[in-house]
Amino acid sequence: MNGPAFANFPAPAFTVHSRFLPASRSTKHVVVLLHPFPFSSVFWDGVAKEFRTLRNDTALILIDLPGFGLSTPRTQWDFSSFALELRGVIEQHTRRSVIIGGLSMGGYAAFEFFRMNPDLVRGLVLSNTRAEADSERERNERAVFAEDVLKVGAEAVIKRNYPNFITEKTDPETAGQVRKWIYDATPAATASALMAMANRRDSTEILPKISVPTLVIASSRDRITRSTAMRKMAKAITNSRFIEIESAAHLSATEMPQAWADALNKFIEPL
Ligand code: MLT
Repeated sequence: MNGPAFANFPAPAFTVHSRFLPASRSTKHVVVLLHPFPFSSVFWDGVAKEFRTLRNDTALILIDLPGFGLSTPRTQWDFSSFALELRGVIEQHTRRSVIIGGLSMGGYAAFEFFRMNPDLVRGLVLSNTRAEADSERERNERAVFAEDVLKVGAEAVIKRNYPNFITEKTDPETAGQVRKWIYDATPAATASALMAMANRRDSTEILPKISVPTLVIASSRDRITRSTAMRKMAKAITNSRFIEIESAAHLSATEMPQAWADALNKFIEPL
């Protein structure tokens, strides 16, 4: 049947936008990268460029979390439904199991992806992130922050996060880029991501259950996710390796893309 029979055909199921960067020769690995708050997949462009100079057998899938970049805006979302949707997005690109990497908020998504789809995960990269859920105080602060973003826009993020995203040592061009990306995010996406983070599950109980090879990346000047806490998290994961990137703050992958890409390259080599 044609025409009217299709009038109520459901809208495409996948509203999470992804960019697939293929390997330039036969594909050995697929790495999925999940960005921090409140950015988009462009956050990974520096790492992707550096990584390309190191190996050509690895495809990258760069994801826009809900409402960011080209992903569909949502007033409300949670990491569990995102993780299920992400599985579908990945399966559009590859039939292989993948290495999932996330930085900060992207790490929260990586934990949830592992919890929901362990069969699809061959390795994990947890960068500048933590397994604990928010405390009650943090949840309340996020709710105030979200209301503030909806009232005043990106200025609320500049006031709260920007001073911890960079340090006096950050390259001014990188600092300017980070500031611009903060303004690129819509207030609605920023507010809904804050509430998704506030409501995320605690992942500390899954740390001892992670048996896939895991790379934990901290950075020496991170005031949001301290290196000591990340080292402790790495110790709770059996098959993990810990590295600390010197002189970077919270956004290690954008501040030191070469060091981050190098760590990823060394990690996936034996997989
Ligand atoms: C991020 O960089 O994604 C955020 O700092 C995470 C958070 O606010 O918990």
